[in-house]
Amino acid sequence: MYYSADIGVIGGSGLYELGKEVKKIEVDTPYGKPSDEVSLLKVGAKTIAFIPRHGKEHTLNPSEINYRANIHALKSLGVKAVVSPCCVGSLKFAMKPGDFVVTDQFINLTSGRKDTFFEKPKVNHLSSAHPYDDKLRVLAIEAAKECGIPVHDGGTVMVINGPRFSTVAESRMFALLGADVVNMTQYPEGYLCLEQEIPVVNIALITDYDAGLEGHPDIKPVTNDEVIRVLNENAEKVKALIFKFVEKFEV
Ligand code: ADE
Repeated sequence: MYYSADIGVIGGSGLYELGKEVKKIEVDTPYGKPSDEVSLLKVGAKTIAFIPRHGKEHTLNPSEINYRANIHALKSLGVKAVVSPCCVGSLKFAMKPGDFVVTDQFINLTSGRKDTFFEKPKVNHLSSAHPYDDKLRVLAIEAAKECGIPVHDGGTVMVINGPRFSTVAESRMFALLGADVVNMTQYPEGYLCLEQEIPVVNIALITDYDAGLEGHPDIKPVTNDEVIRVLNENAEKVKALIFKFVEKFEV
């Protein structure tokens, strides 16, 4: 049986399903299995292929995710865009928990992750100067505004290995290096989409202020419980934004 989809969505923490799927399919790739079965959903005339990034029971930590298999699976279904929602910690007071950021840059501080499809004998070097797609970002910003969701247009995400959260000194360093938010999964997910020539957009929900903020003694370092609380509080907004984005996307 041949399946296809228009848009891929890789759901992050707290987003293990998008809605009623039409079909769940097992996809295998030359890089191994994706994080879970791929759910196919209909939104109007369009089909979404949804993969829960950490598995539907959240059993994969950020460095255990088979990013290549996830992207290859979506490519094999023929998606024309990938939506990559995630949660992030903020490094700036003005970017508040509950706000969304559609990032336009990443800084990669992860290590040891399989982050290329170009293995011998297929060696190649791509520019990752602009990893996220500008048109998709504009569309996501419009979608957020139409849904009445507070959103920041552009920003740099610092991607760390995790699973631990950052120290105060690390968090300070990330801000000094020009990052706005911090996360554990945006690398190599976005970059691998570039290698597969699939435009990608990152829609990030701010859940916390990372290790706290200099000059704000009342802001406490992040806890996992707090991330989950803010995620749950905003889960419907994340879904609404994705569906609005899909509605606006022209295949
Ligand atoms: N995801 C959500 N909050 C985070 C943080 N503070 N650091 C890394 N990843 C996160």
